[in-house]
Amino acid sequence: MRILTGVQPTGTLHIGNYFGAMKPCIDMQDEGDTFLFIADYHALTQLPDPTELRERVKNVAIDFLACGIDPQKTVFFRQSDVPEVTELTWCLSSVTTVGMLERCTTYKDKVDKGLKPNHGLFSYPVLMAADILLYNSDKVPVGKDQKQHLEVTRDIAIKFNNQYGEIFTIPEPIIREDVALVPGIDGEKMSKSYNNTIPIFGDEKKMRKLHMKIISDSTPMEDPKDWSTCTIYALYKLFAAEADLATMRSNYENGNYGYGNAKQELFEKYWDFFAPMRSRRQELIDNPDQVEAILQDGAARARTAADKTMQTIREAIGIR
Ligand code: ADP
Ligand code: TRP
Repeated sequence: MRILTGVQPTGTLHIGNYFGAMKPCIDMQDEGDTFLFIADYHALTQLPDPTELRERVKNVAIDFLACGIDPQKTVFFRQSDVPEVTELTWCLSSVTTVGMLERCTTYKDKVDKGLKPNHGLFSYPVLMAADILLYNSDKVPVGKDQKQHLEVTRDIAIKFNNQYGEIFTIPEPIIREDVALVPGIDGEKMSKSYNNTIPIFGDEKKMRKLHMKIISDSTPMEDPKDWSTCTIYALYKLFAAEADLATMRSNYENGNYGYGNAKQELFEKYWDFFAPMRSRRQELIDNPDQVEAILQDGAARARTAADKTMQTIREAIGIR
């Protein structure tokens, strides 16, 4: 069974990204034949600065490897290192109706947010379908926001198969509905667009200070507090073992325990949790050639699969 997913080379990764997207990918490495790629062609629709794009791709690669992507288990590569994906995009375009793309809410959302309504943004789901179909993926784990794109992918694959024969595997989405929605320091969903994130990797002093800014109510120090609605506790839950959670709960309930104490405890747990990842990350930063070699090796393996698909497709559609 082939499991494939793509990640956008977004800015600094935060703990919402870690628990919502990275950890599920890392945990999945033992469940099948896994492919993970950095969607740099997709990023082009929102990131016109070449230096920044290159930098972000490198950082995402380092962060995913530091957090536990094992290149022995996962074919880890850069989307653009397999240019066949753009060839397949074109082939798929001919069976993709404009109506199908017009119905995609992500396009409308992005345009509403001020992105230029260019063709790349409009045909984003076709490139995504090519990412998935090129490697004959069976399962595609994604966040809820990508559900509609997976439906488009399936529609395109079915139409293509109807026209040219049984070529593509029809992929199944794995929608990560059950992952905890990680709250940000203001109590809303953690998101880089809300400026409320706790980065996975950051300077110790700054990160401690950031934790001190987590929202809390004004219950006086002496009074009992409600842990069940508290953002600090919700974050602590991500890192702490049950015994520590029980201690924090009774501290809240007994009173004489301030939010400041809880924030300190949360910070310590967060800092320890990411300690091994931090040291691995530093090693990778110090060895950029090693990171590039991993991506190149991944690309070579991905390309073998891509080549095979493209030969079948060219034959089927009458090209060469
Ligand atoms: P952001 O909201 O910061 O822009 P992205 O949209 O780039 O994050 O999300 C990348 C991945 O991380 C997605 O799969 C998304 O579901 C997951 N993710 C982002 N924020 C959270 C969160 N607060 N809790 C759980 N998962 C999240
Ligand atoms: N569109 C996805 C996102 O924004 C990233 C992505 C690109 C992807 N191609 C993919 C995800 C193929 C899964 C499969 O998160």
